[in-house]
Amino acid sequence: MASTIWHEHYTPIIGKEQVLYMLDKFQSSGTMKDQIDKGYQYFMITFESKNVGYLSFEKREKDLFLSKIYVLKEFRSKGIGKKAMKFVTEVAESLNCKKVSLTVNKFNFNSIKAYEKAGFVKTGALVQDIGNGFVMDDYLMEKII
Ligand SMILES: CC(C)(COP(=O)(O)OP(=O)(O)OC[C@H]1O[C@@H](n2cnc3c(N)ncnc32)[C@H](O)[C@@H]1OP(=O)(O)O)[C@@H](O)C(=O)NCCC(=O)NCCS
Repeated sequence: MASTIWHEHYTPIIGKEQVLYMLDKFQSSGTMKDQIDKGYQYFMITFESKNVGYLSFEKREKDLFLSKIYVLKEFRSKGIGKKAMKFVTEVAESLNCKKVSLTVNKFNFNSIKAYEKAGFVKTGALVQDIGNGFVMDDYLMEKII
């Protein structure tokens, strides 16, 4: 699912080479296992008994960091992402977090709009060197609970 969504969605934004690099670096099964060992939680998003996406978050000191939230293209704009973000916010509340935070590529316009609809606001920008000559050029967004 990571491969399907990343190739479809991110190739026009960051290019094929960076998609392949980031899939291997951040979304291989081995890396996901390491992330889970370090405290990340992964959830499959289901709709009418089908797996249609996934999300991942990590509890940090004062916030819940929403690391990933992806819905397969053919299931977008049906309210699934909104419901998934509500779930994440409820988890954050239950863990006494003061906010949910995330990073999103500056050119990932549709997702930024979906986040804004869900109550997230831009609070800054961040360029992270991820090796091999690639960077992640992101906005920081937060939703205060
Ligand atoms: C971001 C994402 C998870 C949102 O999930 P979704 O199921 O498409 O979102 P929803 O259908 O629940 O829409 C939520 C709200 O955002 C709005 N929205 C969604 N896409 C939008 C767009 N392109 N333009 C304007 N508004 C948009 C919807 O209208 C809805 O608004 P409402 O609350 O007034 O009803 C999904 O689009 C996705 O997986 N995108 C590709 C992967 C990605 O970039 N993920 C984020 C990584 S940082």
